[in-house]
Amino acid sequence: MKKIIIAIDGYSSSGKSTMARAIAARLGYRYIDSGAMYRAVTLFALRHGMIGADGSVDEAALTAALPEIAIDFRPMADGSQHTLLNGEDVEAQIRTMEVSSHVSAVAAIVPVRHKLVQLQQEFGREKGIVMDGRDIGTTVFPDAELKIYVNASAETRARRRYDELRAKGQDVSYDEVLANVRERDHIDSTRAESPLRRADDAIDLDNSAMTLDEQNAWLCERVRRITGEA
Ligand code: DC
Repeated sequence: MKKIIIAIDGYSSSGKSTMARAIAARLGYRYIDSGAMYRAVTLFALRHGMIGADGSVDEAALTAALPEIAIDFRPMADGSQHTLLNGEDVEAQIRTMEVSSHVSAVAAIVPVRHKLVQLQQEFGREKGIVMDGRDIGTTVFPDAELKIYVNASAETRARRRYDELRAKGQDVSYDEVLANVRERDHIDSTRAESPLRRADDAIDLDNSAMTLDEQNAWLCERVRRITGEA
């Protein structure tokens, strides 16, 4: 069977991770959530006092500490993957609003991006991988066989993230989540180093009005056109 690289990019909470996970499980591919890697570095920076009360990141200290940061994923029995920071399972800690509100600033730091992009490329060396993020089709795997660019309105995405956080028992308001989604959209698409950008050869998907099953069927069809299966 021909193994390919599937790159799925898009704004936060666009539903890209759910789609990416489902297609990876179906194809027996490895799924990598590149956003989780930026979140893990953000958690490290928070724990080490490298993020000030005003939200500013001590870039020099974080850059100097990068060699001490190891990030990996652990496959779980239910098919999901948990993020490991220096061997510790930090899956729950990286999904909090605190990490969400600082991650875009950390992800804009050039040495952080260089380290994580290199790691992401290593994960993809054997192909048979689905990776989601912001710059996967443009920077990490510019030669990926299949690139998808997912979009949905900020309100739709905020509603999804809000429902997710509430389901996990986090006490947040919809307005707070919408403000965070808008702020991250702005930072992620205007930063100097690999901003969120649609690759020229990506296929667009606006899933605002699609169910999960419809999205998955849509993606399977795209994979089938390339590999002849799925
Ligand atoms: O997908 P997410 O919301 O978990 O991503 C968290 C943050 O990481 C997001 O604000 C942008 C950043 N990110 C990035 O800059 N590049 C990636 N490939 C993935 C995520």
